Amino acid sequence: MRIGLKKKTTSGAASKLLAMAKKLSSKPTILFIFVSFMLFCAFLPVFAPLPSFSSHHSHRNTVNRKFEIANDRFWKDGEPFQIIGGDVHYFRVHPEYWEDRLLKAKALGLNTIQTYVPWSLHEPAPGKLVFEGFANIEAFLNLCHKHGLLVMIRPGPYICGEWDWGGFPGWFYSMIPTPKPRSSDPTYLQLVERWWGNLLPKFVPLLYENGGPIIMVQIENEYGSYGDDKEYLHHLITLARGHLGHDVILYTTDGGTRETLEKGTIRGDTIFSAVDFGTGEDPWPIFKLQKEFNAPGKSPPLSAEFYTGWLTHWGEKNAQTDADFTAAALEKILQKNGSAVLYMAHGGTNFGFYYGANTGVDEADYKPDLTSYDYDALIRESGDVDEFKIQCYSKGYSQI
Ligand SMILES: *[C@@H]1O[C@H](CO)[C@@H](O)[C@H](O)[C@H]1NC(C)=O
Repeated sequence: MRIGLKKKTTSGAASKLLAMAKKLSSKPTILFIFVSFMLFCAFLPVFAPLPSFSSHHSHRNTVNRKFEIANDRFWKDGEPFQIIGGDVHYFRVHPEYWEDRLLKAKALGLNTIQTYVPWSLHEPAPGKLVFEGFANIEAFLNLCHKHGLLVMIRPGPYICGEWDWGGFPGWFYSMIPTPKPRSSDPTYLQLVERWWGNLLPKFVPLLYENGGPIIMVQIENEYGSYGDDKEYLHHLITLARGHLGHDVILYTTDGGTRETLEKGTIRGDTIFSAVDFGTGEDPWPIFKLQKEFNAPGKSPPLSAEFYTGWLTHWGEKNAQTDADFTAAALEKILQKNGSAVLYMAHGGTNFGFYYGANTGVDEADYKPDLTSYDYDALIRESGDVDEFKIQCYSKGYSQI
């Protein structure tokens, strides 16, 4: 990959330097200083090849890279692997701070980053695609990769995520006929095909087996809480497989009840079914239920959204969660080799008018979310770490 390229350039520069040094006088001290200085310069980033974020890995090491499911576990390159992940959404963090937040997530002990992809950010007008600045998802994924973090990506098309209209672009409403979201309505599916046709090919070089960080790709989002159009789910799966091939793990995430799983996923080996549930619930009966929806041996227990805090609506008090309680709930999952993704590791900010609205405790009470998406998470909206929380959480998985 790129490292190879860099090495080659550096050693090229170094051998030139050595040749130059040979021509120099026999004064060893000056020679030493000169060579040291020039070698130092050669390693300065200015002299290194410019990183291109739209990297296509020219020397793919596909030989040993494999992320898969067997014996009810995840396996990375033939070793059992436990996902201890966390959500960090690139679109909720200023790009200047991406690396800082990822490093903090890594310091927290996380090995995987999960993120949504909001359609509305990337296609603000029909056919107008944006993949720069806040929307430079490839740059974000490359930063994850740079720091050895794996990625679980959730490209929707519906994402929920307290994002305006769950990520659907507002221009849907200017269309006649108006597409019927989250269904097998042909007008809607045509738009999805075009959007994913632009998005998913970007992920191909970034898939784990192709040398990148992406280990899993989610289809829809808690669909079982909304509908039960299996034709729609099958359509999305076929579309994703067409772009991404047959090796990457596709997954669904649904609330940990029989009803939501029945509606939101497909039984058997077509797709891996993961669950999410409140921190007050006993995880293991839910993981047992999860098994019924996966093929035998293909059900590693995974809580794809382990809530470290909660969202806050306008007019409500800021969410506050008890760190000891939440950390103990996490430990229950991790100590028996279960996997979990902290939602959120770092919440960030709903910039502009992108914050969504949803119901609170009272189902009839539909309210906008705050601009802040702090989420009472371990890494605060400001980027500060909540030392106490982090200590509580780290206790839970430091022995693993
Ligand atoms: C967890 O995994 C380890 C290592 O593979 C294994 O020895 C242990 O028995 C597993 N524990 C449980 C509770 O499954």
